[in-house]
Amino acid sequence: MNEIDIQKDYINKTRDLIKKGQKYCIYTMGCSLNENDSEKICGMIEQCGYTKTSDLNEANLVIFNTCCVRENAEEKLFGKLGELKELKRKNNIIIAIGGCMMQEKHIQDKLNKSYPYVDIIFGTHTLHKLPEDLYNAIQNKKIKDVIDIDGEIYEGLPIKRESLTKAYVTIMYGCNNFCSYCIVPYVRGRERSRNKDDILNEVKKLADEGYKEITLLGQNVNSYKCMEDYNFANLLNDIDKIDGIERIRFMSPHPKDFTDDVIDAIKNSNKISKTIHLPLQSGSSNILKKMNRKYTKEQYLELVKKIKNKIGNVLFTTDIIVGFPEETEKDFEDTLDVVKKVNFEQVFMFIYSRRKGTIADKMENQVEEKVKHERFNRLKELVEKQIADNNKKYVNTIQYVLVEGTSKNNPKMLTGRTESGKVIVFEGKTDNIGKMINVKVISEHMWYLKGEIIK
Ligand code: 5AD
Ligand code: SF4
Repeated sequence: MNEIDIQKDYINKTRDLIKKGQKYCIYTMGCSLNENDSEKICGMIEQCGYTKTSDLNEANLVIFNTCCVRENAEEKLFGKLGELKELKRKNNIIIAIGGCMMQEKHIQDKLNKSYPYVDIIFGTHTLHKLPEDLYNAIQNKKIKDVIDIDGEIYEGLPIKRESLTKAYVTIMYGCNNFCSYCIVPYVRGRERSRNKDDILNEVKKLADEGYKEITLLGQNVNSYKCMEDYNFANLLNDIDKIDGIERIRFMSPHPKDFTDDVIDAIKNSNKISKTIHLPLQSGSSNILKKMNRKYTKEQYLELVKKIKNKIGNVLFTTDIIVGFPEETEKDFEDTLDVVKKVNFEQVFMFIYSRRKGTIADKMENQVEEKVKHERFNRLKELVEKQIADNNKKYVNTIQYVLVEGTSKNNPKMLTGRTESGKVIVFEGKTDNIGKMINVKVISEHMWYLKGEIIK
C-alpha cells in the first residue's frame, strides 16, 4: 500500500472508532501556504467523521496549524494553550498542534515541559499522517510525529476549501534562499516542486467545480522547476490555457528570480493578474546584502521599471521588514525612498523579529525596540497616505470583480475583489456570487471601495 492508501485506511478506522457527532475547531496562523495546509487538514479530519465548529466549548478536537516567522505567533499559541487546560480536563478534548513552529527544538521542549496535556505534535513534513496520528491519540497515545528530513510530496489528500470561488494551489514546498532573518528554510526544508501534471489537473478540476480564481503558492514560486526544461513561466503559460479560470495570482516571487519569460507570460495573458507581489524587505543595498537577498536597491528599482515597460499597466504590492540588525536611519530612509518611487498598491509591513538559529539573530547590533517601532510608524504613515491617494484614482472607474459572497459587516451587500486585490462592496442579488462582473466604483474608503453593478 502506498502512504496515501495507508492514511485512507486510518480515515476509515477513525470513522468507525469515534462516536457520531464529533466536532473539531481549527486555528490557522501565518501565511497562505499554511491556510492551504489547513484546508488539507480539514479535508482529512472531516473524512474521519468530524464536523467543523468555531465554538471551542463544543469541540472534541482542537487543532493548531502554527507559524514561526515572527515571535508573536508563539505568544498567541501558548496563551491559547493555557486557556485550553481547563477545557481538556472538563471535556477530555484532543489537542493537536502542527505546522512550522513544531519543527523547532525549543518549542518541542517547551511543550513537553509545560504543556504535557497536548496529545499530538505533528510537523510540516508529516501533515499527511494526521489520520494515523489522530487514530492513535484517540486511543490515549501521546503522539510526536516530527521529522527533519524534507517531506515527500503527497498528491491526492482530501481537501476542504474555504472558498467556493477562489482557491489556493501550492506549486512548490520549501526554500533554498536562506535570507538571514528567515526561519522558513529551517522548518520547511529545501525546495521541492510538484509535478506539472498534478498541478494542471488540480487547476482543471477547480475550473470544473466553478472556481474562477486561483493563487499559485510557494515560498519562492519563480524557482519552480519540475523538469529540466519546465519552469515557472511554462507553468503560467499552461495554466493560462485552462478554460473557466479567469484570474491567476501567485505568491511570492523572489526579485532575483524574476526572469523575462515570466514577465512575458504575464504580458501575454489576460488572466494573470497585473498586480504583482514583489517582496522588497528593505530599500537599502547595505541591509539587503546583510539580509542575503542577492539584489540591490538599484536592481530592485530596475526590475520594477523593466516589468512596467514590458507589461504596461502594472501595480506592485510588497513585504517590508523594519529594524533589521544594523539598520541605520540612512538605511531606513532608503526603504522610504523605494516606497515613494514604486508607489505600492499595498505594503505588508513587519517589525524585525529575532528567530533562533538564523544568521541575523547572531548579529551584534540589534536595533532597539523603540527605534523599530518608531520606524514602523513612519513607514505606516507614508504607506497609508499613498494608499489613500491611490484609492482616489479608483473612483468612477469600472472594475472587473470576482463576487465572493455577502459582506460580513452588511449581509445585504455583496463583496468581492478587484484585479488589484482591493475589497469592493456593492448591492446585488446573491446569484452573482461566484461570477465575474463589472462594478463601477462610486466611493473610496481606506480599506475598501464602494461600487454599483453595471447592468
Ligand atoms: N521578522 C519579521 N518579518 C519577517 N518575515 C520573514 N521573517 C521575518 C522576521 N524574522 C516577513 C518577510 C516575508 C514575510 C512573509 O514575513 O517580509 O516576506
Ligand atoms: Fe524566507 Fe527568504 Fe525563503 Fe522567503 S525567500 S521563505 S523570506 S528565506
